[in-house]
Amino acid sequence: MLPTAGLRIDQAPPLHLPFRFFGTAPLFALLTGGMLIFQGGDLLLAPLLPVTIATAHLTVLGWLLMVICGAMIQMIPVLAGIPVPWPRLVPWVHGLLTLGTLSLFAGLTADPVSPLPLGLSVVALTLGISGFLVPIAIALVKAPAKHPTVNGMRLAMICLTGTLLLGVVFLGEHAHGFLDVDRRLLLGIHLFWGLIGTMGTLIIGVSFQMLPMFYMTPAFPNRTANRILAGIALSMLLVPLALLAGGVDHPWLPLAAALPGIAALMLYGHQVRQMLHNRKRKWVDTTLRLWLFGFACGTTSLLLMALWPFTDSEPWRFLTGILYLFGWVAPVILGMLQKIIPFLVWFHRFSTLAGLVEIPMMDDLSPEKPLRAQMWLMIASVASLILATLTGWDPVARLAGVGLIGVGAISGYALWFALRITPPKAPEMPDFASFFKDSFPPPPQGQDGTNP
Ligand code: HEM
Repeated sequence: MLPTAGLRIDQAPPLHLPFRFFGTAPLFALLTGGMLIFQGGDLLLAPLLPVTIATAHLTVLGWLLMVICGAMIQMIPVLAGIPVPWPRLVPWVHGLLTLGTLSLFAGLTADPVSPLPLGLSVVALTLGISGFLVPIAIALVKAPAKHPTVNGMRLAMICLTGTLLLGVVFLGEHAHGFLDVDRRLLLGIHLFWGLIGTMGTLIIGVSFQMLPMFYMTPAFPNRTANRILAGIALSMLLVPLALLAGGVDHPWLPLAAALPGIAALMLYGHQVRQMLHNRKRKWVDTTLRLWLFGFACGTTSLLLMALWPFTDSEPWRFLTGILYLFGWVAPVILGMLQKIIPFLVWFHRFSTLAGLVEIPMMDDLSPEKPLRAQMWLMIASVASLILATLTGWDPVARLAGVGLIGVGAISGYALWFALRITPPKAPEMPDFASFFKDSFPPPPQGQDGTNP
């Protein structure tokens, strides 16, 4: 059982809202895997080829952001203590994010690049992501909870807004011709806000609550957490300014601007290491292994990223992205889902029946062996992607694709596994009033037969 003190579980939205995102995301993992099998090492030759951008966004928007949207809609009411307004928008957000990602993919993979699906993608992604951001922003502004997790979510949502705006400009460029601005510069800002500002900050912010809850570690100290977020926020502001001021040809400037963020991430790593070391129960389950693998890949990727300004090597940049997205964000998200899905299903479907009828335990809603296999498949996919990037070996890239298809298929299976048990009917409660009907005299009646 999870310790849930301080959480407003009664505020949780209905199960179908987050689960439509969790159910769609694995399909995009399958598509990413399919593209790797189909295209092989060609996908890893050079960044910013339309087909590479398209495949990157199957992962980024269709798989990872899809899960993040579902998880935030679920978590904000519980962690921040306030419902997200306009829940009726949620199915629209889900539909538009799906449509926008698919049309982005269709537009960029057409030969030549096709403006019509790209235009559709701009409309769908702008409406879909804004339909997600606006209600979430309202909830986060009004949130009574002052926990650093809420501050992390606020920062992540600001960065997602900037990432979206730049993404829309890029799609316009791909459809209608490139603006006379340094493409690497704007792309650098898009990557920085999207990868670190949105995905990284969100994972870090949520981990302030999740690590103590899932792994029985001591609490994450609020002051340290807020300092970490302040350091990241400062760099999110300074790095784009440094890039705009000095261009990409003055590498020291953005690196200096990144220092507060780098210090914050080192503090985060130090704190998490201490907390995991001091956790009450020392067992290491699949989800913790995924976290540890994620931490190792995330750290390596940030080290590589810090060296970007000093190298033109394309494999170097690919490695950074692969380690970051597939090595850090994806495994951590898989690990969180392995905990969250059985908990939500148990809470929504069975918790009210506890003590009345026989109900499954939370562990009965989680397929342990397939999930362990999923972890190994994820690790093997990352290893294959790294090898394929360094060597250019086609079969290894295709092997990574097979691994990702396995990961996506097991995610879908885990969802079905959790939902497969129909909740038993609650037994008829006895009519307690009838037990006492002859025990008391009837109340006095008025002349017309009504109570006076
Ligand atoms: C958190 C969200 C996002 C992340 C993490 C992200 C990540 C990335 C990455 C890694 C690349 C480089 C791809 C490559 O090397 O080939 C990229 C480029 C690009 N992104 Fe995103 N992205 C995000 C959101 C978006 C959105 C919402 C859109 C569209 C509305 C978008 C449109 C683009 C485009 C068109 C490019 C190519 C840029 C160019 O050609 O210069 N991205 N993004």
